[in-house]
Amino acid sequence: MKYFIGNWKMFGVPKSINILDKVNSFHKKDKNRKKYRVIFTPPFTLIESYAKFFKNKKILIGSQNCFQKDRFSSNTAAISPYMIKKVGANYTLVGHSDNRSEGDTDAMLKNKVFFALKNNLKVVFCIGENKIDKRNKKTFSVLKKQLISILEKKLDKKKIIVAYEPVWSIGTGKIPTKIELQKTTIHIKKILKKIFGKKSPAVLYGGSVDGNNVKMFREIKEIDGFLIGGASKSAKKFIDIIKNYYR
Ligand code: PGA
Repeated sequence: MKYFIGNWKMFGVPKSINILDKVNSFHKKDKNRKKYRVIFTPPFTLIESYAKFFKNKKILIGSQNCFQKDRFSSNTAAISPYMIKKVGANYTLVGHSDNRSEGDTDAMLKNKVFFALKNNLKVVFCIGENKIDKRNKKTFSVLKKQLISILEKKLDKKKIIVAYEPVWSIGTGKIPTKIELQKTTIHIKKILKKIFGKKSPAVLYGGSVDGNNVKMFREIKEIDGFLIGGASKSAKKFIDIIKNYYR
């Protein structure tokens, strides 16, 4: 199964649902539809209405983050995995670099993953090296640390997806070379197999994915799908990614 996940970040109002509706109409008629899953992570404000609208349809809704506690607490403006699940989301991103740079620590990420899974949300756990790590040839060790500090065998690997997003690639138009990305994806899967045993969870790529460069990414068979930011705000651009992936 491949994944195409649209991460809207701080974008969207109620009527933006027409973007998802167009993607849904495309998906319904696409001959490849059984091969992949489409998930969108709109902002918290839209999760409930979008999840209701797509309840019996194929598009799944997730949140972009969750708070590191289970249900209710006295943390102003925080939204827990329980609250997210109760309004109809099925997934949540955890550890996106935007949130890491705003202060997500390993201890927080560990709790986010744990409580999200406990509340039956599938977790898209984001990792990625920054420009300096890359320049210092630290990519592999940084990724390993990000994985082994949070993921552990007792977690349900069927509910975990890893998204590899080099920080230097997010929103910049810069992407890794084919060889680089293949090696890195294999490295990530090797670590995941060490943690979880035989079969690795799905590993996605994220960072400036568009309808053009997806033609290169699709040649890397180790990649199980994509986390798409900028291009997910336009139905046409998002659909082009899927079309060109299967062309
Ligand atoms: P981008 O964002 O596709 O705009 O680079 C990806 C992400 O941040 O998930």
